[in-house]
Formats: sequence, structure tokens, C-alpha cells
Amino acid sequence: MNSFVFHNPTELIFGKGQLEKLGDKIDQLGNKFLLVYGGGSIKKSGLYDKLQAIFNEKNAEVVELSGVEPNPRLTTVQKGIDLIHENGLEWILAVGGGSVIDAAKAMAGGAKYDGNVWDFYERKAVVKDALPLGTVLTLSATGSEMNRGSVVTNWETQQKHGAGMTFPTFSILDPENTFSVPKDQTIYGISDTLSHVFEQYFTHTPEVPLTTGLAETIIKTVVNNAEKAINNPEDYDARANLMLSSTMALNGLLAMGVETDWATHSIEHAVSAVYDIPHGGGLAIIFPNWMKYVYKEDVSRFKRFAVEAWDVDPEGKSDEEIALEGIQAVRSFFDRIGAPSRLADYNIGDDKLDVMAKKALPFGPIGNFKKLSEDDVREILRMSL
Ligand code: NZQ
Ligand code: ZN
Repeated sequence: MNSFVFHNPTELIFGKGQLEKLGDKIDQLGNKFLLVYGGGSIKKSGLYDKLQAIFNEKNAEVVELSGVEPNPRLTTVQKGIDLIHENGLEWILAVGGGSVIDAAKAMAGGAKYDGNVWDFYERKAVVKDALPLGTVLTLSATGSEMNRGSVVTNWETQQKHGAGMTFPTFSILDPENTFSVPKDQTIYGISDTLSHVFEQYFTHTPEVPLTTGLAETIIKTVVNNAEKAINNPEDYDARANLMLSSTMALNGLLAMGVETDWATHSIEHAVSAVYDIPHGGGLAIIFPNWMKYVYKEDVSRFKRFAVEAWDVDPEGKSDEEIALEGIQAVRSFFDRIGAPSRLADYNIGDDKLDVMAKKALPFGPIGNFKKLSEDDVREILRMSL
């Protein structure tokens, strides 16, 4: 097991009706803040009205920034920073999915920085200070509600980069706020959650049974609840289990003691930077191909994955057969829930493979389970066409 530091200061407020705790948070953080949300789903679902009732009760002076796009844009982040400065705002409340939360994190760090916020994403600066940020999560997927990561797209340069910005101070997770998530976004969220587990599961670090077991339990929980939530969007327990799984998949727990990989995320970010496709959709296509490309680096790890996480029966099979059956189980699961399987599903052909392969390695080789070069990435993308 490797040495590690685990630090996660986010207060998680989980369950039905927990929005009522927002009033206390306004008392603590101040009543002058920026409300950040997306393209209007919170108005349709009625969440916006519930928020307004709490704001009124607290005499809150709220400045709004709506229209944060999926795969949030740097230009939107800059608008938020300007609003914070112009209005002397004390903190940020982000209500939405990963895109809204990531954009709000960028605003929180950018508002306390004299230079261009994009510096953080280009690794030219590290965040030293940030405004407090609270979130009300409406989509189970990224784990952004309980980590410090933020992914922003600079559309002018077609770059999509992540940076360590800031942990939310608190996050309110009411599974009922995900009842209105449409089928496709539910599927993408499931794929993203599983992908976060995979990125941390495939490691060469030995003797990490606790971390490995947590990862396998998250995979099983997601698989057991996925179709329930897709077929019955208002199944509270299914939504709650997906929500807790997605938060636990990327809050630091699964990185304890292990070397993690993250190559597939870099590849997906390169595809999204060029084609603006949904993150979870891209991952469902690329991940099984990454697995096929790298499994020989440690067949025994893939064997364990197949048997423990996907219930592959090992009887009478070679280790390699078991490993390959595990990878097939992942692909079959994605097919069963209706996730995309080919880049062609997004009308992506082979004309920009070189561009994407280059973009996937902005800071040198990617991945740890197998270090990938530009040629490796091009091959994985070719397998995904
Ligand atoms: O914009 P609105 O109208 O709110 O609609 C959104 C959006 O169209 C909709 N939605 C969200 N909650 C809803 C809802 N629709 C109905 N009912 C609800 N309750 O869903 C659409 C997608 O939202 P988005 O926030 O883009 O999805 P997600 O949470 O999957 O976030 C994706 C972004 O997060 C980044 C991705 O790269 C991508 O940019 N990631 C962030 C990470 C992190 N911070 O740790 C890690 C991830 O690996 C990922 O890279
Ligand atoms: Zn992801």
C-alpha cells in the first residue's frame, strides 16, 4: 500500500428534504451571494421556486448567473467572476450537475486571483484562496460535489482541462432532486460513476484490499440500481444509491493507498474538446477499449475485476478468458442500459484522430496502469470508431 494524505472538508447533507438546511448555511456564509445554475432544468423541476422561498425568508441579496452549459465554457466562468467583483459577493451557491458546480469552482478560485483563471487549467498557477462554495446537486455523475476538481472548456482553443480548484464547503444531496434527470443523462451519469471507479481500480499497487473492496461494492451498487432508476425515475432508493455511489466514487476514498490511472478521462476530454459530446457518453465508448488495450499489463487484476465486481464464473477458464469476459461484461452492461458504444454514434469519424490524440496528452504521457503515448491513444480511439 502506498502512503497517502486524505483530506476532504466538504460537509455532506444527504437525503429527502435536506434543502431546508440551506437557510442555516445562508446564516453562516452571508446573505449576499452568486446563484449559479444551468439551462433551466431547475425551473422546470420546481427547485428554483423552493430556493426562492428560502432566499426570501433570509432576505438574501442574490445575483444570478444562469445558462452554464454542459461542458462549461471559460467565457461563462469569466462572466461569473465579473459579477462577483461588481457586486461584492461573499460566496457562491451552485445548483445543478457537474458542469454548474465545476464552473462555480472556477469562479470561486478566479475571483480571488489577479491573473486569468485559465492559468490554473494550464498548470501555470495553483489556487491559494477561493470564495466559499455551496452546492445543491441535481445529477448523480461527477462527484464534483465532494471533490476539488473542476473541468472547464476553452472553446476558442478547443481545450478541455481539469484543475484542482476548491472543495465545496457544503453539498446538499437530495435524491428527489434527481427524479427529473432524463434517461440519457441518467445513463451518462452511471457511465461516469463507473468510469471513476475503473480509473482508480486498475493499479499495480499491491495489498490494498480495503480500497479494492470499496471499489467493487460501488460497482455492484451502481449495476444493481441502474436499471431501476432508468425504468422508474422516481424510485427513491435507486436514485439515492446512485447518488451516494457517484459521490463516493470520486471524493478521495478510492485513491487511498493506490496509484491511479486517469488516461481514459484524458482521452475523453480530448474528444469532448473537439466534438462537445457528453462526458459519460464518451467514457462508455472509450473505457472498454482502453481495457482491451491494456489488460495484459496485469491479467490477474482484470481477473479479480471480472470475478469480484462482475460475477464472472471462473470455473474451467484461463485467467485471460476470465479477464476478457469481465471486459465484455462491462460492454454488455453499457449496451443493456442504452449507453453509446461507438464514436460513430456521435457522428465522429477518423478525420480528427490525430488532433484528438495530441490533445489527450497536453502535459506528456498519460496513465499509470500502462503509460500511453500519442500512438497508443490514437489506437484506442481507432478501436472506438
Ligand atoms: O443545464 P440544465 O438545464 O441544468 O440541464 C442539465 C444539462 O443539460 C441536465 N440536468 C442536470 N440536472 C438535472 C438535469 N435535467 C433534468 N433534471 C435534473 N435534475 O443535465 C445536463 C447535463 O448536466 P452536466 O452538469 O453537464 O452533467 P454532469 O453532471 O455529467 O457534468 C459533466 C461535466 O463534469 C465534468 C465533465 O467533463 C463535464 O464537463 N467532470 C467533472 C469532474 C469533477 N469535477 O470532478 C469529474 C468528471 O470526470 C468530469 O470530467
Ligand atoms: Zn468523469
